[in-house]
Amino acid sequence: MPFIVEKDSGLIPQILSAILDECVNGVTLADPDLEGSPIVYANKAFERLTGYNQEETVGYNCRFLQGEDRDQEARYQIAEAMKNHEGVEVTLRNYKKDGTLFHNRLKITPLFDKKHRVIYYLGVQYDITNQVNASNEIKELNDLLNASQNK
Ligand SMILES: Cc1cc2nc3c(=O)[nH]c(=O)nc-3n(C[C@H](O)[C@H](O)[C@H](O)COP(=O)(O)O)c2cc1C
Repeated sequence: MPFIVEKDSGLIPQILSAILDECVNGVTLADPDLEGSPIVYANKAFERLTGYNQEETVGYNCRFLQGEDRDQEARYQIAEAMKNHEGVEVTLRNYKKDGTLFHNRLKITPLFDKKHRVIYYLGVQYDITNQVNASNEIKELNDLLNASQNK
């Protein structure tokens, strides 16, 4: 689907959005010139990852994925980076439309125009829930092992 906002028209040809839709990563664009820096574009992988479709995503700030779980260090890191027009990579606890928790590895990159103004923020989302669960399990098993060795 081509982009909705006017400054995007013609910028990304249809073929490029088809390519983005084939990606395994979520790809999003947020417009800092619009009130609340809403998402103006999300690819199909973002839809698959979160369970939210285009209409439920475009026009909203991506923080809705945090639900009530707002006490997260990563979100302050993002806010700080965006204030300084810098990129950042963090892991967030996010919630799908059906309420399922997933661990979202998010990389945000500012995109600049020729005059070095930020025109969009690019967000790339990757579900690392399996890795997080596996490393938690390893930690628990190590703790058990250490506890039994110290007996
Ligand atoms: C392009 C882009 C994509 C983002 N994607 C996500 C996301 O997938 N999940 C999430 O929890 N926050 C995401 N965010 C971060 C939130 O939109 C917001 O910037 C963050 O929560 C910090 O602001 P706040 O403390 O006012 O909520 C994204 C931000 C940008 C700019």
